[in-house]
Amino acid sequence: MRTIDDLGDLRGRTVLVRSDLNVPLDGSRITDDGRLRASVPTIQRLRDTGAKVVVAAHLGRPKGAPDERFSLAPVGRRLGELLGTDVTVAADVAGPSARSTVDALADGGVALLENVRFEPGETSKDDAERGELADRLAGLADVYVSDGFGVVHRKQASVFDVAVRLPHAAGELVRAEVEVLSRLVDGPKRPFVVALGGSKVSDKLGVIDSLIGRADVLLIGGGMVFTFLAAQGHPVGRSLLEDDQLETVRGYLERARSAGVKIVLPTDIVIADELSADARASVVPADQIPATALGLDIGPDSAAVFAAELRAAATVFWNGPMGVFEIDQFAHGTRAVAQAMTECDGLTVVGGGDSAAAVRKLGFADDAFGHISTGGGASLELLEGKTLPGLTVLED
Ligand code: 3PG
Repeated sequence: MRTIDDLGDLRGRTVLVRSDLNVPLDGSRITDDGRLRASVPTIQRLRDTGAKVVVAAHLGRPKGAPDERFSLAPVGRRLGELLGTDVTVAADVAGPSARSTVDALADGGVALLENVRFEPGETSKDDAERGELADRLAGLADVYVSDGFGVVHRKQASVFDVAVRLPHAAGELVRAEVEVLSRLVDGPKRPFVVALGGSKVSDKLGVIDSLIGRADVLLIGGGMVFTFLAAQGHPVGRSLLEDDQLETVRGYLERARSAGVKIVLPTDIVIADELSADARASVVPADQIPATALGLDIGPDSAAVFAAELRAAATVFWNGPMGVFEIDQFAHGTRAVAQAMTECDGLTVVGGGDSAAAVRKLGFADDAFGHISTGGGASLELLEGKTLPGLTVLED
């Protein structure tokens, strides 16, 4: 994979950088700027070489047309603060405004294109449609740097097709992410413990499937745990349940047993009658969730068992909160997992937007972990051993 050093002298040249600036917003307030901070080193490094830096990024999932709610304007402001310079945000992706914004850039200057997903070509399955947008994006720059690790699993115009059209290299973030995550795939130090949470088991099927046989211990929490408990024949009340995944999950439990992989499910669950900060929470055994209750976190006994497994690990990967961490009384399981990772002497990797946001919201410092990945789906797919289009295109 070529790096920025391989691109030669960039002074006065225009570099198109694909970053992942997809941050959570509350209105126009950014609630976690982790991905912006992670994108700064590559942009800054390019500025230092005297390049004109044009950043392409997406925000949310607009439907291929401009939509004010998904404008990158607030992101541009914060990026400017982090870089200590003005970042001009173009009013379009690769149209007249982008052209004039890029033309006005001085050496070392930074511009941000409007949300690439305002163009239908960005996410199109049709090669020609993506190609048309990629041609316009490529026309804005001399070289391309891929630094949006969170999107390298997407075969999209600004991730894949533009790299085919311009001399290209991986940015610092993509390089660092691939280096660390590869250590989880190629001969991880054992015991290799994986903690998986989040609401839907259907989002994690690929990774669970591939980890059975590769990880030593799988700790399962979050909303998806109820599909596991139901698969074992336990009542789950009104908790999240994916009925259509029960057979698959039973299959995983069976395969894990024969492969000697320990799947650890919670033995106690924090329940409440409703999902709210002032609901009355209580703890019940995991096999006795009342019919009217919602399971909203793993219980304290389970958190202690999970923490012990994590502290004893030589390699840890964690993706997905253990409960509804946004509400204090359902955040204990997530906090316990994060805390145990900080006490583990092995390589600890936090994967995923939600888990990264969770550790920061709960007050943990980024450097308390070996690595906090900026990629959710991308880190899971890399861990699964899948080929990611945004990475393979950089090999050519
Ligand atoms: C993410 O949030 O995981 C990345 O920014 C990719 O976003 P997407 O899932 O909408 O492609």
